[in-house]
Amino acid sequence: MAVATLKSQRVVIVGGSSGMGYAVAEGALSDGAKVVVASSDKAKVDAAVARLGAGASGGVIDVSDEARVAAFFAQVGGFDHLVFTAGEAGLGRAPGPIAQLDFDAAKEGANVRFWGALMTVKHALSAISPTGSITLTDGVLALLPMKGMPLATAFGGAVEHLVKGLAVDLAPIRVNSVCPGLVMTERLAGWPAEMIGQMTARLPLPRAADPAEAAQAFLYLMKGGYTTGQVIVVDGGATLV
Ligand SMILES: NC(=O)c1ccc[n+]([C@@H]2O[C@H](COP(=O)([O-])OP(=O)(O)OC[C@H]3O[C@@H](n4cnc5c(N)ncnc54)[C@H](OP(=O)(O)O)[C@@H]3O)[C@@H](O)[C@H]2O)c1
Repeated sequence: MAVATLKSQRVVIVGGSSGMGYAVAEGALSDGAKVVVASSDKAKVDAAVARLGAGASGGVIDVSDEARVAAFFAQVGGFDHLVFTAGEAGLGRAPGPIAQLDFDAAKEGANVRFWGALMTVKHALSAISPTGSITLTDGVLALLPMKGMPLATAFGGAVEHLVKGLAVDLAPIRVNSVCPGLVMTERLAGWPAEMIGQMTARLPLPRAADPAEAAQAFLYLMKGGYTTGQVIVVDGGATLV
């Protein structure tokens, strides 16, 4: 059932200590939810919880380690919605030209954002409500391939298709993904403004998104009770031009 607000809902955000996940936590809190923000660095989690204030709690999870994922969900308690925004800084390990592909390095590129997401879903199932939702994250490279980055397209596309499969497999739990374009999160802090300007100049909305704008898509997917197996693209129109 669609709900007008997240009042009294409990939301677990893996990757919630910064960036889009943190913005989802802020949005969910102001919508009346209780949030649990989780990531691998305890100091970052503690700082995020302190900044978020009342209604927020935290936990440590490393989604590249299944035992730690299982341990996190064994103690987190029941909840309604899972949001997964965890991802390493940068674009993961650059695989280099395909002719020189190092397969071990290439596989590591999927550790957090694909296998980590699936591992998180697996262990979340013991604690998530059957009327709840799961929202994963991919990226616009899934839809707009770039020279030199075929694996980013493949791994993003894998997440987009994973949510379709899981939406059928895990129903009535709803499973969706958000596909962001460029979002001005902490990970872009060191990027020169001129470079961001060049990357976004051709877009119908010629700027990067604010994290709170990307967060709106996650908030909708938690509340939209008839939406499952879908990908919401938040890219300023990048895929149109
Ligand atoms: N920002 C963009 O322009 C953009 C565009 C398209 C797609 N994306 C994707 O969207 C996702 C979120 O991006 P963002 O910009 O919000 O990133 P961010 O600010 O860097 O946040 C990433 C979060 O993931 C956590 N994390 C990293 N490794 C982890 C691990 N092994 N286990 C658990 N948590 C882990 C980080 O915390 P710890 O360091 O404490 O673990 C942090 O909370 C990423 O997958 C990113 O690739 C971003």
